[in-house]
Amino acid sequence: MHIFLQIGPLEEYLNSCREDDRTIALVPTMGGLHEGHLKLVEKAKACSDLVVVSIFVNPTQFAENEDFKAYPKTLSEDKKFLEAVKVDAMFTPSDNQIYPDGSSQDYDVGEMGKILCGISRPIHFNGVAQVVARLFDIVKPDYAVFGEKDYQQLLIIKSLVERQGIKTTIVSIPTVRELDGLAMSTRNNYLSSEDRTYAPLFYQQLDATKSAIQSGVDISTAIEQAIDALSAIFDVEYIEVLNANNLTQITTSSSEIIIISAVRLGETRLIDNIVFRRSYV
Ligand code: PAF
Repeated sequence: MHIFLQIGPLEEYLNSCREDDRTIALVPTMGGLHEGHLKLVEKAKACSDLVVVSIFVNPTQFAENEDFKAYPKTLSEDKKFLEAVKVDAMFTPSDNQIYPDGSSQDYDVGEMGKILCGISRPIHFNGVAQVVARLFDIVKPDYAVFGEKDYQQLLIIKSLVERQGIKTTIVSIPTVRELDGLAMSTRNNYLSSEDRTYAPLFYQQLDATKSAIQSGVDISTAIEQAIDALSAIFDVEYIEVLNANNLTQITTSSSEIIIISAVRLGETRLIDNIVFRRSYV
């Protein structure tokens, strides 16, 4: 596996691969790699000839009061992990490589950046857009792979690519779950062993809400029931049932529905969602 800390050598390597007509897929990560990242890499391999994984804990997507400093930094384990799954190149830039002289461009992440997670994390999606646009500019990937657990992030990145005319195809993979249903996340490492036993109840409740809606319970009642049940264990930040294509309110023509939620369990913030089709609303 090639390891790059600097943009120049990475660009040289990628240019020579392009001259050989090899297609490139990028998997942007913040490290703390787990089974979910493995699935991202597998998807990237299926799309393209060569896979680059970036590891960069992006400071601009964390607010002052968030977990930037505590975010798991496991670079030597991550390197072994990526070698074992035969990734072609790992890119671990410094802050200065990504934001020379501290500069970072602002992006209009639109209305979609202001709802759901954007309410409690108002600068978050702008920071994600900054780093993703910068990584795309450096790697110029044919494909980039993201997880559907961060569903709002995924739609914002798709819209960024469209609006900026970036020639990268955005590919996504379904949320990878532990056997008990908990969505895999680097932040699950923050859960105490007691909280870890409660955490799967989050997804179980989303699934129960989906079943309720599918069996004809109206959406506002289903949400109220979900808030009541979740509140026994979690601090509920939001739970909404929306049009999965654009995160707007459901209309009679919406057939793809998302139940999307963020909760807190102790100090740990968990997000999750379920997307499903529905023939009537
Ligand atoms: O989803 C993540 O891990 C991050 O938000 C991303 C896309 C790597 C940008 O820092």
